[in-house]
Amino acid sequence: MHIERVSAENFLSYRFLDVPFEEGLTVIYGMNAAGKTNLVDAVYLCSLGRSSRLSKDKDLVKWGSENGCSVSVIVKTRFSRHTVDIVVGSDGKKKVFIDRLPVRRLGELMGAIGTVFFSPEETKLVRGAPEDRRRFLDIALSQQNKSYFYTLKRYNSLLMQRNKILKEYRGKEALGHYLNIVDSDMSRMGAFVAKCRRAFVKELEGLAAARHAALTSGSEKLTLKYESDCGESEEEFSNKLLGSRKNDIRLEFTGVGVHRDDLRIAADGVDLRKFGSQGQQRTAALALKLAETDVFERRTGEKPVLILDDVLSELDPRRREGLFEAVKGVQTLVTCTDPPCVPGAHYYRVRDGEVIPEDAPSGEESAP
Ligand SMILES: Nc1ncnc2c1ncn2[C@@H]1O[C@H](COP(=O)(O)OP(=O)(O)O)[C@@H](O)[C@H]1O
Ligand SMILES: [Mg+2]
Repeated sequence: MHIERVSAENFLSYRFLDVPFEEGLTVIYGMNAAGKTNLVDAVYLCSLGRSSRLSKDKDLVKWGSENGCSVSVIVKTRFSRHTVDIVVGSDGKKKVFIDRLPVRRLGELMGAIGTVFFSPEETKLVRGAPEDRRRFLDIALSQQNKSYFYTLKRYNSLLMQRNKILKEYRGKEALGHYLNIVDSDMSRMGAFVAKCRRAFVKELEGLAAARHAALTSGSEKLTLKYESDCGESEEEFSNKLLGSRKNDIRLEFTGVGVHRDDLRIAADGVDLRKFGSQGQQRTAALALKLAETDVFERRTGEKPVLILDDVLSELDPRRREGLFEAVKGVQTLVTCTDPPCVPGAHYYRVRDGEVIPEDAPSGEESAP
């Protein structure tokens, strides 16, 4: 799929926005704070229903605007074309529409615009906490599979409920009874989440290793492993919960479950989460993201849109070229301060709140 148009009103730093996009590579360049990330955030928002970096919907409204904001993205898929509209009202309430029809549950939006987002922040995927890696798995899987999105949501609310029960019914007779009820639902949801994540990681591994080999000229072998101690089945999951119950009651917290799982990322057997150099972690994160585009395509038949926000300056020219080679065939939106000269790419310059089409920069790119 590819984005054909992004329009917006009073969205972040933009008063008005209406930008057509082509397939292939688009370079969006401009000075710091010009609004490059804000532009690609419009795509992210219409893909996942929230901003890549702001958690409150009302923060998406341009400061000083009293009428809220609206963002509209037109996406062309293999067989059709869809418009996703997101409106944040003056009351800060968000509404989502697909082809003008209101979307009541956010899960319905998932996958309508498939995106893979990479920014310097995203290296947290390797060096960050287990939570960051789960987030990667969850966002990728939610876009491929609506049931995953809903099941995970349900699991998380059961988890909150269970923790609340552990606190409120501590020492009370009803505690065991309530835990039995929640544990049974949680086991079902949790086992499904674990199963999806495990299958995804398995499929991702070979693709990520290939992407990684291409980025590193095959010098290291990337391996992945889904780390979980809640078993493979609903029954095992339920047994784990039961086994942990005494401890959970004492700590008033659920100590086992898919909310504790992790993804091991290693190069030549070395755990990159702990021992990777910054460069190794960055390359591994990029390989994972590129492999995510591969899995998305395998599973949905559509290529997602790749957003590379501000990652070029961290790559030497050779790696940059390797990256442009690697993303061929996938619509890619790249933001940067110094535009590289890439044959066939489209260019936009962001300045003074406007996004202006430009010709390719002539000659060699300026060295940073
Ligand atoms: N709600 C908002 N209204 C107006 N301006 C905003 C809003 N949120 C962020 N900004 C401005 O957007 C600018 C950042 O834009 P950004 O897209 O991150 O820049 P960059 O081109 O460096 O990626 C900041 O200067 C910030 O002040
Ligand atoms: Mg930026």
